[in-house]
Amino acid sequence: MTEAQQALYTQMKQELAALMENVPEPLPNMANLSALIYQHMDRLNWAGFYINTGSELLLGPFQGKPACIRIPYERGVCGAAAKENRTQLVPDVHLFPGHIACDGASNSELVVPVRAGGRIVAVLDLDSPEKERFDQGDAEGMEEVARILGENCDWTSLI
Ligand code: SME
Repeated sequence: MTEAQQALYTQMKQELAALMENVPEPLPNMANLSALIYQHMDRLNWAGFYINTGSELLLGPFQGKPACIRIPYERGVCGAAAKENRTQLVPDVHLFPGHIACDGASNSELVVPVRAGGRIVAVLDLDSPEKERFDQGDAEGMEEVARILGENCDWTSLI
């Protein structure tokens, strides 16, 4: 992780922790986190969440253009993150089999699982109009951000 990324993710984690204080409900926390990411990171055209209902992924709070509502586990970068239970770092979405183009401007993507109590409760999806916008440092930084969200919310009554 570069020094700039270190500074960025440290700041985002601090702001997220402050925003989440005494707020166990996932919905406002996901809404504020998508706004926080969109405000702090450059070269993004979408930042937000798909919620794991147990049978598919359902659109959650986000910043950016309107997006597809339902994603099966078998489809797209988000589906792959949930199905494989791991982060997807995609330098060129046009080379990713089954990529779902919600916004035609997207060229690269980072999707990070949000886990709570050992299960995936949501995925955090970031899109960029720039190819290779995200690197391993971003993946690690966002995994830490997603861990703070996942572990500090009560996910039992979301859907
Ligand atoms: N591109 C994603 C779909 C969600 S939108 O990018 C907001 C995918 O392939 O899963």
